[in-house]
Amino acid sequence: MKNLTGLCGIPAGDITGLLDLAEGFKEKLVTPEPVFPPLLQNRRIALVFFENSTRTRFSFEIAARHLGAGTLSFSSSGSSVSKGETLSDTIRNLEAMKVDAFVLRHASSGAADFITGITRKSVINAGDGAHEHPTQALLDIFTLRRHFGGISGLKVVILGDVLHSRVARSNIFGLQTLGARVALCCPSTLIPSDAGSLGVDLHTDIDRAIEWADAAIVLRLQLERTTGGYIPSLEEYSAHFGLNDERLEKIRKHLLVLHPGPINREIEISNNVADRIQPPGYSSSMLLEQVTNGVAVRMAVLQALLAS
Ligand code: CP
Repeated sequence: MKNLTGLCGIPAGDITGLLDLAEGFKEKLVTPEPVFPPLLQNRRIALVFFENSTRTRFSFEIAARHLGAGTLSFSSSGSSVSKGETLSDTIRNLEAMKVDAFVLRHASSGAADFITGITRKSVINAGDGAHEHPTQALLDIFTLRRHFGGISGLKVVILGDVLHSRVARSNIFGLQTLGARVALCCPSTLIPSDAGSLGVDLHTDIDRAIEWADAAIVLRLQLERTTGGYIPSLEEYSAHFGLNDERLEKIRKHLLVLHPGPINREIEISNNVADRIQPPGYSSSMLLEQVTNGVAVRMAVLQALLAS
């Protein structure tokens, strides 16, 4: 594997291999001062972010450092992109400085695949438009696998703004490849036009959807993109599609709750549900556990692509 631009078409064995590798890193990361072999010493990884990020960017940086690699941080606002430099020229110039890999976040779907044709170095997609966010899905799947012991046969509902979500697409591909059943639950205006070809069940009733599911991946309502009449109001969206205590009490079973972040508190998820840590048997939130797992998963991806 040289690049990771999406989970569509990635064989189950490759996904499982990455998760197993991450498992080894995770075990060490729980110790106060984990020490790892510097598998990526003298490697330089360019973190090229054309969109904002907290979790993805920092966890790639920490993951790279744990493995002994150096990172170069790029953000479009502080770069020559603001003078009109193109994505292609940006990548070519960074490659000329001898970087070994690009971690790219970009607003355009397909941007990561596009730069694989520009550079001979490894490319990792850190989120491109509404296309894919493969490392987020890998860390979600890793979190589910650790909790449930496996993915095959698991019922996962992806809940919320699916239309604008790259996380949803990567999770659909990755989870289905490993044998999970995936459903989407959202207002009909937020169902992607190709949903019928994705092999997922469709729900518009959140109560029925969470009653069916073992786990829910709640998505951020992308407020910056939902101004075009997709929802009547935030209050109505929250009332019909928000995950809250009342709904979790009603289903009377354990539902594992994930969210890739950032969260809109009291819109798609209530404060209580987002911060909920319950004993086994009750629904519980994995939000911060997902973030912790993201470091191990990104270490695994960097090692798999770069260590030789
Ligand atoms: N989940 C996620 O991609 O978060 P950031 O936008 O903070 O990286």
